[in-house]
Amino acid sequence: MSKPKVFVTRILPDIGMEMLHQIAEIEVWPDRLPPPYEILLEKVKGKDGLLCLLTDKIDKNLLEISGSSLKVISQMAVGYDNIDIAAATTKRIPVGHTPGVLTDATADLTWALLMTASRRILEADKFTRSGEWKTWEPILLLGADISGATLGIVGCGRIGQAVARRAAGFGMRILYYNKQRLEPSLEESLGLGYREFDVLLAESDFITIHTSLSEDTYHLFSDAQFQRMKQNAILINTARGSIVDADALYRALTNGRISGAALDVTEPEPIPLDSPLLTLDNIIITPHIGSASRQTRDKMAMMAASNLAAGLKGEKLPDCVNP
Ligand code: DGY
Repeated sequence: MSKPKVFVTRILPDIGMEMLHQIAEIEVWPDRLPPPYEILLEKVKGKDGLLCLLTDKIDKNLLEISGSSLKVISQMAVGYDNIDIAAATTKRIPVGHTPGVLTDATADLTWALLMTASRRILEADKFTRSGEWKTWEPILLLGADISGATLGIVGCGRIGQAVARRAAGFGMRILYYNKQRLEPSLEESLGLGYREFDVLLAESDFITIHTSLSEDTYHLFSDAQFQRMKQNAILINTARGSIVDADALYRALTNGRISGAALDVTEPEPIPLDSPLLTLDNIIITPHIGSASRQTRDKMAMMAASNLAAGLKGEKLPDCVNP
């Protein structure tokens, strides 16, 4: 019996590629950059499965053009705002994703950014390399204490909660805002205090974003929100770039409305090299590496391959987005 045909939009970690070769006849896009949309349209035609990434736009048009052969879409990411889930559901195409396995890696990077920003590590490294380090100075490169500070978590699902667990070790006061309030027992075990969004903005020294991108959260952080934040506040975003209005963030960072920011995600990605944000010293920007540990990416690739395999067999996906 011939194997099902699958298009894979990028080379995955070896362990994922090995699994894919066992379950399907695969065609892999070989470049570092994603396949252009027009090429993606061509490649999905006649395929039984599609394994994609968050950089691929999977819209209604693509799903229509893919014809009736497409049985499953498997995305190697937890977020899926690049996929028109409603259109896939209408076409009865299950969409898989990779929740859980990247929770710790993403929470770790959030903490790496928070600490780097609060203690001005990048500025300090630059200072050393440029030969400006002459002596110990009482007021040199002063940052902000983490211990005893208030952390505001916006979106308190798996990753937000993992960030909270780490914060407890730093002796922080931890607040959260979530669409749905957590169970009191969970709040208690994590040491979390619930606040309405505006109140959390006003009370937090560090604010970290862990909500998904949707119509409701697009530019959730804009001028009005920065106005409500403390002047010493540092904003961390490891979720999706479009949750923060980049122009408003630039204004807030340059007029002293807030003290700093650390972004692992930007709008658009990559951030254009002429973005004014890149001229500032009080911002750190990393290239969407929240889940980028070898072990985590292996697990994500394996999970994506398992979702794909189930869909090709007409079975329920282990981790399915649509109902
Ligand atoms: C995701 O999985 O959605 C992250 O943004 C990339 O790992």
